[in-house]
Amino acid sequence: MTGDTHGAGALPLPRMFDLTGKTALITGAGQGLGAEMAAALAEAGAHLALLDRDEATLAETAATISGAEVLPLTADVTDAAAMEAAVAQTVARFGTLDIVIPNAGISEAQPGRLHEMPREDWDRVTAVNLDGVYNTVRPALGQMVSQGSGKVIMIGSMFGIVAAAGIFPRPAYAAAKGAVVSLTRELALEYASLGIQVNAIIPGFFRTKTRPRSPEHAQQMADYTPMGRLAEAAEIRGTVVYLASSATDYMTGNMLVIDGGILAR
Ligand SMILES: NC(=O)c1ccc[n+]([C@@H]2O[C@H](COP(=O)([O-])OP(=O)(O)OC[C@H]3O[C@@H](n4cnc5c(N)ncnc54)[C@H](O)[C@@H]3O)[C@@H](O)[C@H]2O)c1
Repeated sequence: MTGDTHGAGALPLPRMFDLTGKTALITGAGQGLGAEMAAALAEAGAHLALLDRDEATLAETAATISGAEVLPLTADVTDAAAMEAAVAQTVARFGTLDIVIPNAGISEAQPGRLHEMPREDWDRVTAVNLDGVYNTVRPALGQMVSQGSGKVIMIGSMFGIVAAAGIFPRPAYAAAKGAVVSLTRELALEYASLGIQVNAIIPGFFRTKTRPRSPEHAQQMADYTPMGRLAEAAEIRGTVVYLASSATDYMTGNMLVIDGGILAR
């Protein structure tokens, strides 16, 4: 080991992944991957600001978190003013904002080609999956710049990298997630010299309360996946702690794919 001890290289392993004293804001935290990421970050020691538009599921999830302070925030990520207020409330409560995860996301009600897709579907999906990311990350970055540190963990999708139509055509979802992947790289460079790392998790098919929508879809997804199965939602836990931790202090602009092998084809 040299005398240069910058970053996490010098920390013993358990401390490298210890988030004690850190604050994380997660959107779409009421259920699914958001709730799992909340549980994981709490277990690693972080305080949590958990945001969802569904007050009831948010309360249920917040009640399951133990060993961490939780600030539940009911808001819609498409409401820019509400998201600015959410970041302000988080900082007022915990003093800092160290980790932000703009996770809230939806997809088209039905798979279908673009020319048959109602305009409302396009607007609804892009408003949550793209504008919602902007509304969340913009005030969070303002705080992180003033701190001189922070971790932004984007939630992309394999369908931000390859076409969704290979299995279910979802043009608005694919377009919005492609933009999130591109924004990850853009922000990584914009903030690289300011102590802020911006990376993305690229999930494949994860089982949640809302997905898959039918046993037929579940079978199609399993058949499409080289590992032959969907992931359980809890399988996101290690990945999010890794990206939130000092283990990744020298990593930015990276896409961490967790998809059972689909994108390796
Ligand atoms: N589950 C998968 O297989 C999968 C795969 C790739 C990417 N993703 C992405 O992971 C993220 C989480 O997905 P999930 O499967 O856990 O979904 P989910 O439907 O299980 O949970 C989404 C949560 O977000 C909340 N939400 C939705 N719209 C919101 C809004 N406008 N404002 C605030 N909260 C809102 C919902 O109330 C819900 O609690 C999404 O960005 C999704 O695109 C999921």
